[in-house]
Amino acid sequence: MATRKTVSTFAQAKKTGDKLTMLTAYDYSFARLVDASGVDAILVGDSLGNVILGQPDTISVTMEQMIHHTRAVAAGAESALVVGDMPFLSYQVSVQDAVLNAGRLMKEGRAQAVKLEGGVAVESQIRAIVDASVPVMGHIGLTPQSINAMGGFKVQGKGEDAERLMRDALAVQDAGAFAVVIECVPPETGDALTKALAIPTIGIGAGPDCDGQVLVYHDLLGLFGGFQPKFVKRYANVGEVISKAFGNFVSEVKSGAFPGPEHCFSSPQKLDKLY
Ligand code: KIV
Repeated sequence: MATRKTVSTFAQAKKTGDKLTMLTAYDYSFARLVDASGVDAILVGDSLGNVILGQPDTISVTMEQMIHHTRAVAAGAESALVVGDMPFLSYQVSVQDAVLNAGRLMKEGRAQAVKLEGGVAVESQIRAIVDASVPVMGHIGLTPQSINAMGGFKVQGKGEDAERLMRDALAVQDAGAFAVVIECVPPETGDALTKALAIPTIGIGAGPDCDGQVLVYHDLLGLFGGFQPKFVKRYANVGEVISKAFGNFVSEVKSGAFPGPEHCFSSPQKLDKLY
């Protein structure tokens, strides 16, 4: 059995300079594949709303959906730290809600840590969740749960706005988070935040100087047909392979090529001898 990665793995990596890796997963089979790659953490992201549930954004994702998918991922992950995302309005309304919902992701979803979006505005929520012994990963910069307030998916932390992100990053750290995701900021901002923080930064569209990188696996594998953000690198075109295989199945059934004799059970007696 593989050794489990923990929040200590993250703290250690910040000291040694080893780059951290995180990928998303939403079910058991993909959790097993992602886990076998050696990633440090598997994020059950609320990107679930986009890539699994076909929604235009993450706003409608519920606690029940996050618990359901986190539990499936936790069952398939042997070595990676399983991080469950807290969905929109599961922590913003009150500190009490935040602690109870973080606890549900752990107790019912079997997450080993939770992630939530925001900086200064959610500092007291992060502190209370950490005090309840639930490790928290922060998420600042472009925070998709706030797209309506931000006026769309826009690069954050440009020019003087970098100072706002620095205040958010320090608030997340001071509240006790063990790591922070930084999304969609110029590389200079990603670098400055990484240098200023004692906790590791995990970048997504935040340049090469973050302490680690995270991607949504649908983007990395070419499984998601829609818009591909600039920060995504496509490592394979699995969508094409799948479409071809599905098409071959359909045409072989229609032509009679499938199933062949090798896919049929042998019968000890001829059917006509049964009567
Ligand atoms: O929900 C998600 O997948 C995320 C990543 C993009 C970091 O938050």
